Amino acid sequence: MSRDGGALALSPEDIVAAKASAAASAVALIEPGMLVGLGTGSTAALAIEALAQRAAAGLNIRCVATSLASDALARQRGLDVIAFDDVAAVDLAIDGADKVDPQLRAIKGAGGAFLREKIVARAAARMICIVDSTKRVAALGKRPVPVEVLPFARSFVGRAIAQLGGSAVLRDGMSDQGNIILDCQWQVLSDLAGLDRQLSDVPGLVGHGLFLSEIDELHVGGSSGVEIVKRA
Ligand code: A5P
Repeated sequence: MSRDGGALALSPEDIVAAKASAAASAVALIEPGMLVGLGTGSTAALAIEALAQRAAAGLNIRCVATSLASDALARQRGLDVIAFDDVAAVDLAIDGADKVDPQLRAIKGAGGAFLREKIVARAAARMICIVDSTKRVAALGKRPVPVEVLPFARSFVGRAIAQLGGSAVLRDGMSDQGNIILDCQWQVLSDLAGLDRQLSDVPGLVGHGLFLSEIDELHVGGSSGVEIVKRA
């Protein structure tokens, strides 16, 4: 374990290999006819590549994407991507995370797509999170929690975050929805469920990167293969 409770460091090449093995492990579970939720980020991109290979070999599936980038990549690789608004349910969502704790609670959103990622994860009958082993931590908290905010409400939400004991830093750029993202840091992040409720209660704050209940299964790529952890 590292000092923040995560796994020992891997080399950059090992991290890519670990992400790819976690992605392959999840993609192997996709069955013909499924509606698949495509996540966002470098690990999810490896899953899209692996899924495209299976589709090219004859696997008949359809997909919904959690970001414009994943939508574009999937289409470029020949996957059948349909509008999320046109689907009633997602069979399996596969997505990465920034940090995951032993209860399969995660912080997501370094890529800025956490709002759509959470919607697709909640719509999915099963959500598999794919990570390399450096993403595992004993406790969430060292990493900022991103929140997506209507530009109209930027100052209002910033003050609300301060009242909740956090400090907010404006991220460059905007989300796929045209909103801004604040990266919010707390000294101590102990009551995750309470913070989830408090953030969800702030008008103008349209989503946050705490994923406390969405992940059903975690596939962790590491130096000795893929470990699968299922929600108890
Ligand atoms: C995208 O908004 C994020 O939630 C990503 O899933 C997360 O940041 C993991 O990204 P990487 O797989 O690139 O580390």
